[in-house]
Amino acid sequence: MALIAPSVLSANFLQLSADIKMINESAADWFHLDVMDGRFVPNISFGLPVIAAIKREANKTLDVHLMIEEPGKFAEEFKNAGADILSVHIEACPHLHRNLQQIKALGMKAGVAINPHTPVQQMFDVLHDIDVVCMMSVNPGFGGQKFIEYTLEKIKQLKAEIIRRGTQTLIEIDGGVTLANAATIIAAGADVLVAGNTVFSSPDPAETIQQLKNL
Ligand code: DX5
Ligand code: ZN
Repeated sequence: MALIAPSVLSANFLQLSADIKMINESAADWFHLDVMDGRFVPNISFGLPVIAAIKREANKTLDVHLMIEEPGKFAEEFKNAGADILSVHIEACPHLHRNLQQIKALGMKAGVAINPHTPVQQMFDVLHDIDVVCMMSVNPGFGGQKFIEYTLEKIKQLKAEIIRRGTQTLIEIDGGVTLANAATIIAAGADVLVAGNTVFSSPDPAETIQQLKNL
């Protein structure tokens, strides 16, 4: 049974409180919060004040996915805003080991997000320091995109290495997860499913979360 992390990017921002309440009362495990800076990715989403507001109402883990350049500059502020897990992109971090130590020293779980074109082997030498790998199965920047099939191969490669090294690293799949492909993604080795469009465009989001949870 996978952990389910609805992506707030697809929520109704005019009724955020209602959507937070829905997730609180649902079978979801984490809140997935996508922060975009208009530089690392070609889009801008929301940032610190919105996360701090969500923290006041959310009763589950806040999983913050930073799609920003120089994430180390803001790690402490995201901790103060309420992040429990902080993921930085491997492509934005020439000193990834330092970023991971910083995140852990601040008392958060350390995540590494990885784009579809980046080989998972790039993170193997720091795997023991990674709590969560946020594996992108779309090009980051937008919700509602199509799942890139090769991700399944990357999940298997990463899972094998996690087992070989005996780390506790969770594999989170982010982008294009649907009720139709989720079982295949879990079978490949995923531990956490992010779902934005699939949850929030459905007639009954809480029921859709439950269906993902039941897979
Ligand atoms: C994309 C974000 C995702 C996004 C997923 O840049 O990182 O978290 O919200 O959305 P769906 O599930 O709609 O593909
Ligand atoms: Zn994300």
